[in-house]
Amino acid sequence: MPTEQKILETINRFTAPGSTSGLVDGGAVRNVEVDGAAILVALAVPAGPPGPIDGLRTALSEALASLDGIDTVDVQIQTMLSTIPVAPPQVQAPLPPSWGEKISGIKNIIAVASGKGGVGKSTVSANLALALAQADYAVGLLDADIYGPSQQMMTGATGSPKGTPDGRIHPIMAPGGVNVMSIGFIVDADQPVIWRGPLLMKALEQLIVDVEWGDLDYLIVDLPPGTGDITLSLCQNVDLAGAVIVTTPQDVALIDARKGLAMFQKLDVEVLGLIENMAAYTCPSCGNVDHIFGSGGGRRTAEGLGIPFLGEIPLDPSIVVGGDTGKPVVSDRPDSPAARAFVELAKTIAGNSSV
Ligand SMILES: Nc1ncnc2c1ncn2[C@@H]1O[C@H](COP(=O)(O)OP(=O)(O)OP(=O)(O)O)[C@@H](O)[C@H]1O
Ligand SMILES: [Mg+2]
Repeated sequence: MPTEQKILETINRFTAPGSTSGLVDGGAVRNVEVDGAAILVALAVPAGPPGPIDGLRTALSEALASLDGIDTVDVQIQTMLSTIPVAPPQVQAPLPPSWGEKISGIKNIIAVASGKGGVGKSTVSANLALALAQADYAVGLLDADIYGPSQQMMTGATGSPKGTPDGRIHPIMAPGGVNVMSIGFIVDADQPVIWRGPLLMKALEQLIVDVEWGDLDYLIVDLPPGTGDITLSLCQNVDLAGAVIVTTPQDVALIDARKGLAMFQKLDVEVLGLIENMAAYTCPSCGNVDHIFGSGGGRRTAEGLGIPFLGEIPLDPSIVVGGDTGKPVVSDRPDSPAARAFVELAKTIAGNSSV
């Protein structure tokens, strides 16, 4: 695909009849649209005899058609009694290769994000997925944390993904009925993943579009921390139903949550709300409730930012054990306050989305 600069340079090599400036510099270009391998250029040039105008159309069409990646050219020329120079147009960037067609069986893709690491995205993703599956939804869980995959461990999904005859891969069904895909199933967990840039994006694309997810009501995407390339690439290539932002009650984490929110807003991804994780701790022996990391910060932040507050998940040491042994609290201790909080979260998410 030619770059915007290359397209404009090519157009600017030509002049309108009677003009000495290039078409772009002279303000004759009204519109340039690139759609896959097709390009449309609309020009407005001073009125004059048809011969030179037809000549311009032919020469410009040939030049554009010779650009790599372009096979259809439509040059439309409007003649005007006087041309009013306008600023050179922005070429509309070609749409990114859409991953949508290949995953059209997935009704809602929900990203679980945070501005900061270690706040509980993976824990929330695993338990939310499981709570939705318990409510009889068809659920997939994609571990998009390519550098630090954790869903293999958290969900208890084991084994190696099997291939399909057409070169796709089956996700692994975790206990509780969630279909999980993680780079952790594919690369050796002890080897550092050193993919950068395009390769990293390719890995993400494959983890989504080359996986035989089947028909899903929800695909929960456990994102890496922060607002890096993976998050950006996901938002740009997939039609997300929305993003859930996880935060802990501390101020620092809340500031980071604001950053995450700003990024999703910029990318036009709906933020479904904020979840405060590691909120109150209830002492198992005396029942005393302690807000170790502060209290109410998530709700206040959500209110301040004008986004829904999706609830608090209590700080519960057994979540750590469950996470390390593949036994999410939702299935392992369904009567615990933490499990109930995840079930409530799942109800809220399901209530706000169409299935
Ligand atoms: N509510 C909770 N109570 C107690 N421990 C929790 C809770 N939520 C998460 N944890 C623990 O905190 C640690 C970090 O959680 P988790 O891995 O889910 O965070 P993360 O945001 O996905 O981290 P990363 O940014 O590294 O991907 C884990 O050991 C997890 O078991
Ligand atoms: Mg994580």
